[in-house]
Amino acid sequence: MKKNIALLPGDGIGKEVTKEAVKILQAIATRFNHKFTFTEALIGAAAIDSVGDPFPPESGKLCRSSDAILLGAVGDPRFDQRHPSGMSPEQGLLRMRKELGLYANIRPVKSYPGLYNRSPLKAQVLAGANLVIFRELTGGLYFGEKKRSADSASDLCLYTREEIIRIAIPAFEAAMQRRKKLTLVDKANVLETSRLWREVVREISGNFPGVEVDYLYVDNAAMQLIQNPRQFDVILTENMFGDILSDEASVLTGSLGMLPSASIGNKVSLYEPVHGSWPEAAGRNIANPIGAILSTAMMLEYSFQLPLESAWIHRAVEEAIQAEALTLDLNPSGGRSTTATGDFISNFLLHENLHSV
Ligand code: IPM
Ligand code: MG
Repeated sequence: MKKNIALLPGDGIGKEVTKEAVKILQAIATRFNHKFTFTEALIGAAAIDSVGDPFPPESGKLCRSSDAILLGAVGDPRFDQRHPSGMSPEQGLLRMRKELGLYANIRPVKSYPGLYNRSPLKAQVLAGANLVIFRELTGGLYFGEKKRSADSASDLCLYTREEIIRIAIPAFEAAMQRRKKLTLVDKANVLETSRLWREVVREISGNFPGVEVDYLYVDNAAMQLIQNPRQFDVILTENMFGDILSDEASVLTGSLGMLPSASIGNKVSLYEPVHGSWPEAAGRNIANPIGAILSTAMMLEYSFQLPLESAWIHRAVEEAIQAEALTLDLNPSGGRSTTATGDFISNFLLHENLHSV
């Protein structure tokens, strides 16, 4: 199989973790006789610095003409206070999601037995936790009209029926392939948008009689997620709640550095680790590359229909956990570098007998 991948390393540790992710895709290409070609483009602060635009048209063009996109991270403290240019690295990411129509953000979270002791939660709470968050990605507060005067500010939260339907359906379909449970997380006791979400999800659930549907208020969900995570299978939620709950859910894995994601729309899909650019760690070769590496496993599965290759990446990551070939966030006493962790996973893929995953 031949595929063209757009590579957008972005800012901070984005460059280092995508380098390891590419290494893993190359190892897969070698072992399974595929050809993956990578073309780099700019996004985030790196793009503002070189061309004065956080998501330049050339980057958009490359993404649209590629088979999949691999992104590192965006963000740079130089732009934390309103920059004189009015630009921010995050605008690049948000514009990219909107322009490419990436409305469904899929964030799987599972606990690994070898990492139970890295989480502040008890092993008995973590055991067997395995869920996926379907976060709406191009609507809600993030994209509603923004107003600002000297003494007041507002962000509009707007959702249409259509925007809810197009993410709810793949979430139900995912539930059908998993443990057949879907939890809609909202704030329907207060927000009108949440009441619309409930109405639409209730209607759609009629077409998926095999899926058990639960409705939870977001405050309650935030507590349940770390009190009894095993109850969750598919969590469906709007943009802002999904952003917050996915960082919280990362505690189940032991590190935010473990979480991958896929952002899917009607055309090309985007794969990126959930973590940010961690500017303090940039260039120090200490960032955990596993979130980026597992994002490539999602790419192989969702964009290229290569489930076996994807399963091998998961297997290789499990080997790294077992061997404690892990970065500082998961192995404080003997943390390996970003590159050494990537090398371990890549070497496993290059040398393991690939008969049964
Ligand atoms: C994420 C990030 C982004 C978001 C930021 C960087 C704009 O936190 O992908 O979760 O809020 O969506
Ligand atoms: Mg976030």
